[in-house]
Amino acid sequence: MPGKAQPRGVLLTWFGMPGLYAGAAYNRRMGTQSRWDGLILGPTLATLDADAGYGLVEDGAMGWKDGVLAYVGSRDDLPGDVDGLADEIIETDALATPGLVDCHTHVVFAGDRAAEFELRLQGASYEQIARAGGGILSTVRAVREAGEDELLRQSEPRVAALLRDGVTTLEIKSGYGLDFDGERKMLRVARALGERFGIEVRATYLAAHALPPEFANDADGYIDAAIGWLPRLHAEGLVDAVDAFCEGIGFSPAQTRRMFEAARALGLPVKLHADQLSDLGGAALAAGFDGLSADHIEYTSEDGVRAMAAHGTVAVLLPGAFHVLRETRLPPLDLLREHHVPMAVATDCNPGTSPLLSLRQAMQLACTHFRLTPEEALRGATVNAAKALGLHDRGVLRAGMRADFVLWNAVRPAELCYWLGGGLAQGVFAGGRRIA
Ligand code: NIG
Ligand code: FE
Repeated sequence: MPGKAQPRGVLLTWFGMPGLYAGAAYNRRMGTQSRWDGLILGPTLATLDADAGYGLVEDGAMGWKDGVLAYVGSRDDLPGDVDGLADEIIETDALATPGLVDCHTHVVFAGDRAAEFELRLQGASYEQIARAGGGILSTVRAVREAGEDELLRQSEPRVAALLRDGVTTLEIKSGYGLDFDGERKMLRVARALGERFGIEVRATYLAAHALPPEFANDADGYIDAAIGWLPRLHAEGLVDAVDAFCEGIGFSPAQTRRMFEAARALGLPVKLHADQLSDLGGAALAAGFDGLSADHIEYTSEDGVRAMAAHGTVAVLLPGAFHVLRETRLPPLDLLREHHVPMAVATDCNPGTSPLLSLRQAMQLACTHFRLTPEEALRGATVNAAKALGLHDRGVLRAGMRADFVLWNAVRPAELCYWLGGGLAQGVFAGGRRIA
């Protein structure tokens, strides 16, 4: 893509202004019904609306009404006189992409695990810390102690940070309560965050994350209990999907299967923390339940990849955890490409393995550690991430899709994966409403 000659950074001056408001005369001509709520003129669009390539449109335009894109294309092809088309018009030379979708987070938690970070730097492993009662269980203690308001208060700034760097749809897991009240509290906070920030939050039940102390040496008993809580939480509208941590320090494939069967009985889709530290056949297990995604998958075998391809299960890559744990075993990237398994990228934002507050930064890590191309990383954080959540109304810029988009202070899409840190997003819109 050729660079644009215009200077950048003019966009901010347009926000907060009423735009080039077109008056009553235009209203009469177009009819109030057909006027768009908003129109953006001049950006370079990376629509991702094709099987390959960024789907670039230079000097583009994007109009929306009632939260849905009504026009995506070249400015020249706009239907009619610009001034009469929309209530609010923003002129910009930004790069516009679909809103980012963070399809795997544990962003609701209390406290932090910086002390554990220091221990790991001194040589302790994640598994050693977990087996000694630290790790996930130390966050469980903090979450159980926090009231719902406090949990919300502590989680808000993390969500705000994700939004500021382009996220418009967010998945949030439970899994630090590990009892009915604690899991419920987390899921309620996840829903409250969606309302607070005006974004869609997909809430995932991850009670099968770790074994709480009251069930020590009785993992099967705990899975029975967690299966029992699920219908009640689902009936309260708090669950969109079910996840588990299938691992030596988590739950066995047989226990994971039982949890998935409970999900299936309720019509809930599943996803899995699979093959992160060892190959327990987790990816194939998730695929066997037509899982939305298998996540981490550093140790997944070719059979696992084949199963994912056969069932349309998305590979969710979590380079933040790989980076923080200083892992060396790469996910089977060439096999995923060879078998055409869609790859998504997510932050895995959590206090232990991935205290990562920017999905764009996760895209950067996916390029540097996993050698994704910037295009794969951007697809991974948009269209493929939406697929990993079972959402088909977002992830590309196309008329008829949700008006979720980001205006970036960038000339070319590769910049989104190139800059480390900083704030590139100039405007973040969800359902046509500016959220950051
Ligand atoms: O995705 N692997 C298990 N769960 C999280 C880590 C959670 C934690 O350490 O608090 C993950 O890496
Ligand atoms: Fe995770």
